[in-house]
Amino acid sequence: GQLNSLAKAAGLLYFGTAVDNPSLTNTAYTAVAFNLSEFGQITPANGQKWDSIEPSNGVYSYTQGDAVTSKAQSAGQILRCHNLVWYNQLPSWVSSGSWTTTTLESVLTSHITNEVLHYKGQCYAWDVVNEALSDTGTYRADVFYNILGTGYIPFAFKAAAAADPAAKLYYNDYNIEYAGAKLTAAVSIVKNIQSSGGRIDGVGLQGHFIVGSTPSKASLVAALQTFTALGVEVAYTELDVRHSSVPASAAAQQQQAADYVTVVSACLAVAKCVGVTVWDFDDQYSWVPSTFSGSGEADLWSSNLVKKPAYTSIASFL
Ligand code: XIL
Repeated sequence: GQLNSLAKAAGLLYFGTAVDNPSLTNTAYTAVAFNLSEFGQITPANGQKWDSIEPSNGVYSYTQGDAVTSKAQSAGQILRCHNLVWYNQLPSWVSSGSWTTTTLESVLTSHITNEVLHYKGQCYAWDVVNEALSDTGTYRADVFYNILGTGYIPFAFKAAAAADPAAKLYYNDYNIEYAGAKLTAAVSIVKNIQSSGGRIDGVGLQGHFIVGSTPSKASLVAALQTFTALGVEVAYTELDVRHSSVPASAAAQQQQAADYVTVVSACLAVAKCVGVTVWDFDDQYSWVPSTFSGSGEADLWSSNLVKKPAYTSIASFL
């Protein structure tokens, strides 16, 4: 069987992948990406980010996002939409603007409303706010926090809820997959949205892991349950497991396979963990080598589109 078919039979809603625009011209790649048996869910890797959608104030461009979402919809795949508010890939007109509370709230409302309405009815979920926290659990001192304080997060969730009542609204971050100050701070974000009268439906745990240093299943399950105890669902939204040095040995590839299975098994162990999304499936299009110097081979297929041991192990586990 193939990953999504197996994952659904095991009780998940989907097994998904990110897809970026440059890969759409590779027909061998798209034959896998838009195969519903393999992937039941697609996340546009870049095309729905602020710099792509609203490069200047009030000027909206949906070409890049739609190129991915239209292919997913033709294939019958569900969409995780990513993302509305993030300090990164944020155009300088936002990050370096001279804002008051009122003008920045207005910019946020316009951006969120326009984008969510464009995709209304198409998104299973929206990552409303992405990576608001530093690794020590403090708020990132980005333009939103600096001008609006912690209230920008409930504010953004309320704007998204108003524009698409049916989409599930997620907070998404990394290094919240195991106990620590950052997980505790993410719990506070969920509670803060809830106590302000906002709606949050889910927490996305990105899951960018390192071969041999992936948290244990018990630690992953405990973190997932910390969130589900608040009444929200959870998902692994950007899973990859990178080798610290490449090319990886056969033994390292077996460890990578075991690490992937650990994460998938953690999700299956928690009823409200709805799915697992890999942050692309083919090493050729992985974000890892350009971000973590010297690291790589983090995905389920090698760069010549051959399934790696990690694929086989997940499939036999499922
Ligand atoms: C990455 C993309 O994959 C890259 O192509 C881009 O250059 C940078 O962003 N966390 C996220 C994703 O939430 O949006 C990031 O995607 C990876 C880390």
